[in-house]
Amino acid sequence: MDDTVDEPVDQPGDGPGDEPTDGLVEGPMDKDEVVRAWRAAEREPGAVLLDGFHALKHALRFGGDVRRMLTADRTALRALAAELAGDVAPAVDALAVELPQAVLRTLAPRLHPTGVIALAVRPSPEANLAALAGRPRRAPVVLLENPRNLGNVGAVIRLAAGFGATGVVTTGDLDPWHPTVLRGSAGLHFATAVERLALPQLPAGPLYVLDPEGADIRDLPFPDDALLAFGTERHGVSAELKARADRLVAVPMQPGVSSFNLATSVAMGLFHWMSGKR
Ligand SMILES: C[S@@+](CC[C@H](N)C(=O)[O-])C[C@H]1O[C@@H](n2cnc3c(N)ncnc32)[C@H](O)[C@@H]1O
Repeated sequence: MDDTVDEPVDQPGDGPGDEPTDGLVEGPMDKDEVVRAWRAAEREPGAVLLDGFHALKHALRFGGDVRRMLTADRTALRALAAELAGDVAPAVDALAVELPQAVLRTLAPRLHPTGVIALAVRPSPEANLAALAGRPRRAPVVLLENPRNLGNVGAVIRLAAGFGATGVVTTGDLDPWHPTVLRGSAGLHFATAVERLALPQLPAGPLYVLDPEGADIRDLPFPDDALLAFGTERHGVSAELKARADRLVAVPMQPGVSSFNLATSVAMGLFHWMSGKR
């Protein structure tokens, strides 16, 4: 019985009101040009949407290639940057362009409460594959097998960035660079290597598969070069992935509890790895 399928975390926007503000891009042509430039940038190879200030902040902080930034209130955005992230405030100031709220919502209907959207170009797959395959590997790679929930994947990427994991690999059809995943990770994709691969393309390293049927995690330290693999929310780890495993590892649970949530399992796995280090 599955009790672990989480719903996507996309929240309805509850941003500022729809009234145009002062100091907008001047004249209808200017607004149109800004919108056209945005639409063209959306079509650039590798373009990804950063929805909200926190995603934007981390993208800038971790060297993301941010190309365009739109807000309905440049003054409020500058104040937010100065208050929360002084290190990125100059870049925000240089890039932010103001558009009326109503026009902005045609580009991002579910505008984040912080009222800013940006377009960045994600790191190339080649650069990510090089980072994932790099040796010696000093921190694990997290593997999510066929994840279904965008919010879970975002939360896992945020964990990987926080723990300093080498990267996050997903298999299956979900795009780990989907805007909702970027929103869930707060833009921390740019602090680690995030790539979608097929199982035969996995980077080398001992494969520790987390599964409720495995051996007690407390008896098994995780090496720095481990691949830590986690199964899909509803069905768990596939037979194919289990067959590849060097070790099957479980976090013990009380009788009657079928499993932990995917992202919390990743948190426990990464904490277990970190606890073995000083
Ligand atoms: C929501 S669970 C999948 C539940 C699935 N019905 C099952 O029985 O495996 C998603 C993933 O989290 C990890 N996980 C959940 N609970 C775990 C536990 N107690 N020990 C190790 N891994 C666990 C596993 O990798 C699992 O595939």
